[in-house]
Amino acid sequence: VAKRRDDYRAPDFTITDVALDFVLAPDSTRVTSELKVSRQGSHSKSLYLDGEQLTLLELSVDGSAAQDYQQTESGLTINNVPDTFTLRIVTEVNPADNKALEGLYLSNGVYCTQCEAEGFRRITYYLDRPDVLAKFTVKITGDKASLPTMLANGNPLESGANDDGTHWILWQDPFPKPAYLFALVAGDFDQLTDTFTTQSGKSVALELYVDKGKRSRGEFALEALKRAMRWDEETFGLEYDLDIYMIVAVDFFNMGAMENKGLNVFNSKFVLADQDSATDEDFFNVESVIAHEYFHNWTGNRVTCRDWFQLSLKEGLTVFRDQQFSSDMTSPLSNRIKQVRVMREHQFAEDASAMSHPIRPDEVIEMNNFYTVTVYDKGAEVIRMMHTLLGVDGFRAGMDEYFRRHDGQAVTCDDFVSAMQSATDIDLGHFARWYSQSGTPQLALARAYNEQTDTVTVTITQRNAPTADQTEKAALFIPLQIEFIDATGQHVTPDQAMYADNLLIVDKDTTTLTFTGKGSAITPVALGNFSAPVKLTSDLTPAEWLHTFRFANDAFSRWDAIQQLYNWCIEQYYQQQPHAVDENIWQGLYQAVEASLQETEILGECLVVPSFETLCQSRSNIDVHALNTARKAFSEALAEQLADLLLTIYQANQTDAYDYQPEQVRARRCKNVVLGLLAQLPECKDRIIAQFEASDNMTDTLGALKAAQHHDLVLFSNLMNSFEQRWHDDPLVLDKWFSLHATCERGDILAQLTLLRQHPQFSQQNPNRVRAVVGSFAFYNTTGFHADDGSGYRFLTDYLLELDKQNPQVASRLVTPLTQWQHYSSTRQDLMKRQLARLLEDSGLSKDLYEKVSKALAYG
Ligand code: ARG
Ligand code: ZN
Repeated sequence: VAKRRDDYRAPDFTITDVALDFVLAPDSTRVTSELKVSRQGSHSKSLYLDGEQLTLLELSVDGSAAQDYQQTESGLTINNVPDTFTLRIVTEVNPADNKALEGLYLSNGVYCTQCEAEGFRRITYYLDRPDVLAKFTVKITGDKASLPTMLANGNPLESGANDDGTHWILWQDPFPKPAYLFALVAGDFDQLTDTFTTQSGKSVALELYVDKGKRSRGEFALEALKRAMRWDEETFGLEYDLDIYMIVAVDFFNMGAMENKGLNVFNSKFVLADQDSATDEDFFNVESVIAHEYFHNWTGNRVTCRDWFQLSLKEGLTVFRDQQFSSDMTSPLSNRIKQVRVMREHQFAEDASAMSHPIRPDEVIEMNNFYTVTVYDKGAEVIRMMHTLLGVDGFRAGMDEYFRRHDGQAVTCDDFVSAMQSATDIDLGHFARWYSQSGTPQLALARAYNEQTDTVTVTITQRNAPTADQTEKAALFIPLQIEFIDATGQHVTPDQAMYADNLLIVDKDTTTLTFTGKGSAITPVALGNFSAPVKLTSDLTPAEWLHTFRFANDAFSRWDAIQQLYNWCIEQYYQQQPHAVDENIWQGLYQAVEASLQETEILGECLVVPSFETLCQSRSNIDVHALNTARKAFSEALAEQLADLLLTIYQANQTDAYDYQPEQVRARRCKNVVLGLLAQLPECKDRIIAQFEASDNMTDTLGALKAAQHHDLVLFSNLMNSFEQRWHDDPLVLDKWFSLHATCERGDILAQLTLLRQHPQFSQQNPNRVRAVVGSFAFYNTTGFHADDGSGYRFLTDYLLELDKQNPQVASRLVTPLTQWQHYSSTRQDLMKRQLARLLEDSGLSKDLYEKVSKALAYG
């Protein structure tokens, strides 16, 4: 049963105070909940509480046992309740048996919780909706020896020991919060501590809890946290509000991390990092996720969502904030490229699929299915467009107004836009359609020259094609960053005034600009800095893409020009006319690279050939193997053509003793991208081995392993074996090993996958491990997953039928590649749909999988 955004109704009752009492035991944890409940408005309805998989032991209203109530699979109805009363509920739950990792569960002996979106109802009966905000106190009792640390939100008040070997502690969170922000953790940890003094002089205790023996791997995260706290003060004037901020790293976690008030719970992958075990990318991700969860304290916790359809209110905004932070900590260009790759590889694919939805969805069956690249990343792009339109100061003024109006409230995306509206003269009415319209707008740019008048006309048309969820579309309000260069590389301006320098508003089906008296050779450089989440096609020639690379001001556009040129070249290979990529183009590319030898950052990014997934987004009826082969053939030709330059770059970018520091990161990135290209050539073996053996850090080690994977399977398996010997005890590093095996494009990949599943360290209970094997295969092993006989699709389906019984959330994420059949040829679509149909036949299918699979089968 789907829920609709339009059906929102304010709650009939609210809860103002919650006292929870947990007595922890692995298979029978007792939860006593005392709630102060009050009726909202005048009505005589019964009280309905959400609750799933709970054993109800006691229920009383104002101290006397309730008689008039009904229990179902999903909740509890209590009839004839007073207007205000105290409700006492005792339930029992089984954390050891909780394989879905939602609610209270055990992760390697650690008790922890995950309540967003609707997990609190697996702990006790409650009004489990984000617009019910209550003050919580939490008492925890547990075994003193095995659970020395017991944490909940807020501040610790009192603690003590009992005679039976247990101890207890009482926590209080002074800020009213929805249940999804509740957290409890109990275990035996190594602890890192620090303090942070806020800009107003308040001292905050910082505490980071990690697995025993991993203390030194937590240091980077703690430093990152302090940088994030400072940045939010400096950038948005936002200070931390409690006396203590705690972060716990756990090994079993469905997602990245969770912003529970004062007590974040993290997937250990986004906390633990040191140079031996973590790559530069891992360090980056740790800093970014630490910041993301910290920033939620204001955008998410202090101001939260009225209902789950508003998820992008906090996620889009918080992703935008973490992106700005990362960009300030590292560098704008590589960050922007990283963000755009996510959009082009994954979000565009989602928009084109049966799961297409606006950043503020209208209809949801399982909320966990909507923690998507659309809500998060496209949501952040929508916030970024407002930032572009309002400017830095205008955006800040809008944010200030948002907090002035809504601190302590549960609000909607419309409330956010209206706060932003107060800080600008632009009417955001049209712009706000980005919240309700799904799909990727397509802009097409075309030129015409009139010799008589010496006028170039640039026409930009906007097309919004129907999507799976919406047939009616309207033109959107698109800020298009654009510059124009002439044949000599000089910048020219159009006859018409634009919205601002280099910023054109495209808000109709057709927008035109003219250039008079400037000759015929005008090259538009559109979508600078990826100013809007759109697809753009244009009539530029290969020579003009190279011209753009040479003369454009916007660094992102320079990178994108090379990507467009690669896309064009790969298309020639795909159309069986590789000779169309002629000497002029190769020479142009050679010169472009040669001229950029000192610009390590853009050089490294320009030498990355667009991914297979990205190539799919501008094509239809795709022959998967032909396109994948074309991509590889082009990449190999590129390596041959540039071989001597690549060697120079490889040598020039050797780094000294490892440090995670921007200049070194850029050099290592560039070096390893180049090694990946060179690995396609026959004579690279010694270089790969040498890098593997000399490496003092995980980035270079992994760079060598990836190169070996593309170079030669014997070399690959030798290096992988020695890697496994060194790292078999280290779960996070071993995930990298599993993932490298699963992405290897080889004829016997299914046999390999079987071996991986039989590996003593494989565990279906650990989402990171499952993602490393099954996810890496389904998302990134193009030849294996798309094997012509359908065996890759069958493998995934067989696996999901098992996994869904334990962990529907993870299963539902992994089914994504199977649901995105829309770009492929019809025979392939049939193969994929056949497996989707097998899933749908399963009578015990979770809501999660049901929603995605049934949509994928009904579409098209
Ligand atoms: N709010 C978390 C974050 O983005 C994500 C938690 C989502 N969890 C889930 N089970 N859907 O930081
Ligand atoms: Zn978030």
